[in-house]
Amino acid sequence: SSGLLSDRLGRPLHDLRISVTDRCNFRCSYCMPKEVFDKDYPYLPHGALLSFEEITRVARLFVAHGVRKIRLTGGEPLLRKNLEVLVEQLAALRTADGAPLDITLTTNGSLLARKAKALKAAGLQRVTVSLDGLDDVVFRRMNDVDFPVAEVLDGIAAAREAGLGPIKVNMVVKRGTNEHEILPMARHFKGSGIVLRFIEYMDVGATNGWRMDEVLPSADIVRLIHAAMPLVQLGHSAPGETAERWAYADGSGEIGVISSVTQAFCRDCNRARLTTEGQLYLCLFATRGHDLRSLIRGGASDADLASAIGHLWQGRDDRYSELRGSLPPEAAGGARRVEMSYIGG
Ligand code: GTP
Ligand code: 5AD
Ligand code: SF4
Ligand code: SF4
Repeated sequence: SSGLLSDRLGRPLHDLRISVTDRCNFRCSYCMPKEVFDKDYPYLPHGALLSFEEITRVARLFVAHGVRKIRLTGGEPLLRKNLEVLVEQLAALRTADGAPLDITLTTNGSLLARKAKALKAAGLQRVTVSLDGLDDVVFRRMNDVDFPVAEVLDGIAAAREAGLGPIKVNMVVKRGTNEHEILPMARHFKGSGIVLRFIEYMDVGATNGWRMDEVLPSADIVRLIHAAMPLVQLGHSAPGETAERWAYADGSGEIGVISSVTQAFCRDCNRARLTTEGQLYLCLFATRGHDLRSLIRGGASDADLASAIGHLWQGRDDRYSELRGSLPPEAAGGARRVEMSYIGG
C-alpha cells in the first residue's frame, strides 16, 4: 500500500474514475445515439450495480495504492439515486499522508440546479459540466431529447452559488455540427472564472459512427480563438492532465483543449476506470475489463482485493490513442470497444 505503484510504462496510479450508472437522460449522437440506445437497450440490471458500500470499499483500496483524485461519471451520474450519500462516504476517505481526496463529477448539468447544494454539503469539491453549444436550437439537436440550454446554464449557476468550484465546462466539437458555437462559447465563459475546454470528438465505443473528417483538430480551435482573443500557452497544472491550457492574454481566464485524437496523452495517463458493475478498465479504449465485483462478492479480503488491483495496474501497457493511427481497426478493438456511457469517458 504505497503510492509507488507504477505500470509497465512507468505510469503511476493517480486518478480513479467511477461510473455510477450506464443510463442517461440525453442522447448525444457522439455518445448514446438514439437508434442504438432505445427502450430495448440492455442497460445494467439493478443487481449488477455495485452498492455505495462496495464502491467505497474499492475506492479506499485504490487510495491506499496512491489514488488522490476520484471523479464520478456515468452515463449521467446524477441519475443515480441518493448520489450525495456516496459522495459523503468517499469524502471521508484519506490518503496515506492524511490528506482528503479531490472529489469531482462530470455531469450533463440537467439535474444540477436541483442537486448542487446537497452535493456540496456532502463534500463534493467541484463539477465539470458538458455543454456543446449556447444556441438553443443547436444544443437541443445535440442532446437529441430537446433539452433547453437555459436549464443547463441554470445548473452551472446553481453549482457556482453552492460553492462548487472551480467549475469546468466540456464542449465536444464535431466539425459540421457545432463548430460555429466555438467563439460564442469562448466569449460567454471568458472572464467568468469557469474554464471552458474543447474536446476532440473521439472514436470511443462502437455505435457513434465516428469519422476522422468530423474531428476538428484542437490546433484549429486555438488558432480561431487566438485570432479573436489572444492566447498564451500555460503549463500543466496536474501530472497526466488531459487538457492543454491556454490563458487569455488580457488576464480574463483560461481555456483548455483535449486532443486525444491529434495529440495523444497516453504517456502520462494515470487514470483507472471502475464501471457501474465493478469492472476495472485500464484504458478508455480497452476491449475488456477485469472483474472486481466477483472478487468482492466472492468474499475476497481487503488484502486480496488490494493485491489484485496492484497486479492489474503493474501489468498495464495500454496506450490506445498513441497507437490509434498505426493499428488496423480490428486490433484497435473496433466493434468490441466498450461504450462511453458504460465506461464513463
Ligand atoms: P480534469 O480533472 O478537470 O482535468 O478532468 P478530466 O479531463 O480528466 O475529465 P473529464 O471527465 O472532464 O473528461 C474530459 C474529456 O477527456 C472527455 O472527453 C473524456 O472522455 C476525456 N478523457 C478523460 N480521460 C481520458 C483518457 O485517459 N484518455 C482519453 N483518450 N480521453 C480521456
Ligand atoms: N468524444 C469526445 N468526448 C466525448 N464525451 C462523450 N462522448 C465523447 C466522444 N465520442 C464527453 C462528454 C463528457 C465527457 C465525460 O466525455 O461530453 O464531457
Ligand atoms: Fe449523456 Fe454525457 Fe453521453 Fe451526452 S455525452 S449522452 S450527456 S453521458
Ligand atoms: Fe489513457 Fe488509454 Fe486514454 Fe491513452 S487512450 S490516455 S492510455 S485512457
